[in-house]
Amino acid sequence: MTAQDSSFQTDALISEDIDAYLDQHQHKSLLRFITCGSVDDGKSTLIGRLLYDSKMIFEDQLAVLESDSAKHGTQGDEIDFALLVDGLAAEREQGITIDVAYRFFTTEKRKFIVADTPGHEQYTRNMVTGASTADLAVILIDARKGVLQQTRRHSYLVHLLGIKHLVLAVNKMDLVDYDQATFDQIVADYTAFASEAGIERFTAIPISGFKGDNITASPSSQTPWYSGPALIEHLETVEVGNTAAQERTFRMPVQWVNRPNLDFRGFAGQITGGIVKPGDPVRIVPAGKTSTVKTISTFDGDLDEAVAGQSVTITLTDEVDCSRGDVIAAAGDPPEASDQFCSTLVWMDETALKPGRGYWLKLGSQMVTATVQQPKYEIDVNSLDHLAARTLELNSIGVAEFATDRPITFEPYAKSRDLGGFILIDKFTNATVAAGMIEFSLRRAQNVHWQPTTITRDDHSAMKNQKPRILWFTGLSGSGKSTIANEVEKQLALMNRHTFLLDGDNVRHGLNKDLGFTETDRIENIRRIGEVAKLMADAGLIVLTAFISPFRAERQMVREMLPKGEFVEVFVDTPLDVAEARDVKGLYKKARDGELKNFTGIDSPYEAPETPEIRVNTVDMTPVEAAEYIITQIMPLK
Ligand code: ADX
Repeated sequence: MTAQDSSFQTDALISEDIDAYLDQHQHKSLLRFITCGSVDDGKSTLIGRLLYDSKMIFEDQLAVLESDSAKHGTQGDEIDFALLVDGLAAEREQGITIDVAYRFFTTEKRKFIVADTPGHEQYTRNMVTGASTADLAVILIDARKGVLQQTRRHSYLVHLLGIKHLVLAVNKMDLVDYDQATFDQIVADYTAFASEAGIERFTAIPISGFKGDNITASPSSQTPWYSGPALIEHLETVEVGNTAAQERTFRMPVQWVNRPNLDFRGFAGQITGGIVKPGDPVRIVPAGKTSTVKTISTFDGDLDEAVAGQSVTITLTDEVDCSRGDVIAAAGDPPEASDQFCSTLVWMDETALKPGRGYWLKLGSQMVTATVQQPKYEIDVNSLDHLAARTLELNSIGVAEFATDRPITFEPYAKSRDLGGFILIDKFTNATVAAGMIEFSLRRAQNVHWQPTTITRDDHSAMKNQKPRILWFTGLSGSGKSTIANEVEKQLALMNRHTFLLDGDNVRHGLNKDLGFTETDRIENIRRIGEVAKLMADAGLIVLTAFISPFRAERQMVREMLPKGEFVEVFVDTPLDVAEARDVKGLYKKARDGELKNFTGIDSPYEAPETPEIRVNTVDMTPVEAAEYIITQIMPLK
């Protein structure tokens, strides 16, 4: 696949058919565009018309279409072009299109890929996927209805996703008697909105997808007052694509390192910007090492030059460290690397954003853990107002800061979609939960550097004659975490071990007294405890923590912060009914009576560990027995 694959695309949406098709029309330039609008605006009819007029329908398909039109169509005896596009029978019955469908067609001058996405608000994620690879967007308007909220939403979204070419297709002109004043009014309304949204230019065309006016040739005899191009003419001639990308500085994210034998070490990837030639000085980002391009090879042999959009294998004159996820860039003007950013996010999952939680962040071939902070604001896509927000729900768009566990190489999205666009993935469900567009890196990230210290964590642990550990107790309130942890610490003290016990109720009196029991606060509670416990482990201590720590994701986050083997999860597996029957602090009763909200096990979830290192309980064993068992499990301590 040589066309620009966006990082937003998680599944193979573009099939081999398209590859074959692109090969067949190699000599023609490619335009990828997206159509925005709903079935009511005549979107499917328009696409059907484009395909039909460019003769992309095969004879047998046409026959089916004609008989289908008679059965389901809404257009009397004429061919219903919408049926051609609305694919699935189920969708036909509902009368809406529901997924991203890529369709391709070709004219004498150009080949096209259309991303056809549904217009309804609940399908924002489909639209983001479709728009992320498009060069141009056709915004459909029903001439009878004019500029609607939906028009503004679609336009804002495609603008946000970096589409520079907008076509305002004012459709159904036949239903307003091809009235020029109606068209002019719509253009005036849209111009006002566009300037507010930061959309610099657009091309407005009066059309009728149903009758075919101004689709292939202009002007239609019905619109003598219109002197611009027909839709197809415009799509055939508009200048987009790689010219701009080639003018940028050279960058190639490394997809994989190709090492067929000891003498050859090539770096394969797709060039996202600029031009490269053998002899060019390059820099490997983020490491910063420089070298020179030796060869550029492809399946068809070596090249004297390669440009943005091409997939190549590059060899360098020096043996430098360079692996998947690194970016090879022009030595004099490399992209930035940072671990803190401000970004726009489109939330695409049923489960809302959990500020503070770690997600996988995938940017091109780079994959890191990222935590998103509480959004700075949410954008009302209809009014463009900035609203205060604690989280982002499905299909909402907001701006938030985030931090990654190691630096990533990037460019602002406005400069490069490939190096500025990313997706967030839930670590447990593997669902793509958000698409993001990096705005800029935070200056504080550039000005704060890790300070190496002379006495290392190994020195600390050697002086204490023990291996640092974190014994992470987790379990319901009243399960016995504190009691057992306290007993373990006592026994370790008798063995002359250096320990420290961090207990939930105690830490909430000091360090975390600003936190309550909402999901967000509990996530932050555990994040802080994790950081503190890690510092103590760095100091060589055996740390015991006794927090409910109800969420798998945060326990996992702390595990990942530490060297392998240092995090020991101890699940105090006392069943809810036992903990509740004991009710040492009387909190379960309060929770049952509705006096205490968000109580774990009652109206707030507890995600039990699936594979804890150690499992104990306070039903079959006493706290002393549980503690003795834990100590046998963590021996030897050195
Ligand atoms: S955690 O969920 O954020 O890990 P943590 O261990 O710090 O919780 O605090 C739990 C202790 O706070 C409980 O043992 C209980 O005494 C007290 N508590 C007060 N309100 C709640 C609540 N809504 N849910 C659970 N525990 C609560």
